[in-house]
Amino acid sequence: MDLKDRIDKDKLPRHIALIMDGNGRWARQRGKERVFGHENGVEAVRDTVKAAADTGIRYLTFFAFSTENWCRPQHEVSTLMDLLVDAIRNESPELNENGVRLQAIGDLDSLPEHCRSQLAEAISLTAANNRLTVTVALSYSARWEIVNAAKNIAKKVASGEITPGQVDQELLAGELLTRDMPDPDLLIRTSGELRLSNFLLWQLAYTELYFTPVFWPDFRRKHLYQAIIDYQRRERRFGKVKNQVVL
Ligand code: IPE
Ligand code: IPE
Ligand code: MG
Repeated sequence: MDLKDRIDKDKLPRHIALIMDGNGRWARQRGKERVFGHENGVEAVRDTVKAAADTGIRYLTFFAFSTENWCRPQHEVSTLMDLLVDAIRNESPELNENGVRLQAIGDLDSLPEHCRSQLAEAISLTAANNRLTVTVALSYSARWEIVNAAKNIAKKVASGEITPGQVDQELLAGELLTRDMPDPDLLIRTSGELRLSNFLLWQLAYTELYFTPVFWPDFRRKHLYQAIIDYQRRERRFGKVKNQVVL
């Protein structure tokens, strides 16, 4: 039986988050520069987006560049930014035809101007689509996001708009950049690293975690299907006991 046919359409994760990792090691295995790995990671994103759209996944969030990644060698950072601009430019017409809406989260003001404008163009082109929402986390880190949320709440308290007693989980979640999305049901990290690296720390509280040794440039639709099948075998309890949980 085809892997895709083993997926239960009634138990699909609504939101899948992905930490795309291992580009540098993939390149090194081939005796190439790290940026060769990033170049080859684009195809993996394409295939994953297509597979998710075909399967009926509603939200995909890719960790593409962390706040901490700015500290990498200058050449790697600028090549990554250029690659991103090219990928957005080349892919956005097809994303649009397929009903995909593109979004970005992170400290977008810190991106180079050509990157910001290309991104803004693709976001507005695809704004009316609703088959699948693809969010790219760029210059993103969860601690940065939570600190910003705390600052915004502090301002609202200081201005008298709200009282400290009104601060609750819902209010804080409403200050995060993911406020319009459900929390991820499934997180996939490639390359065998078993950590979150400052990604969506608040939102992943009850997410199922899936780690695969596959390096990101080798990740293809069959790997996504395997992760979904694994997810569907799990029992999510959210702190309750089995028969209390209604999904
Ligand atoms: C992921 O691959 C891409 C980014 C973090 C931008 P890496 O570049 O981290 O590759 P490894 O983990 O060093 O192999
Ligand atoms: C996480 O990967 C960030 C992205 C995938 C964009 P890193 O390669 O930067 O994470 P660490 O350094 O291994 O934790
Ligand atoms: Mg890495």
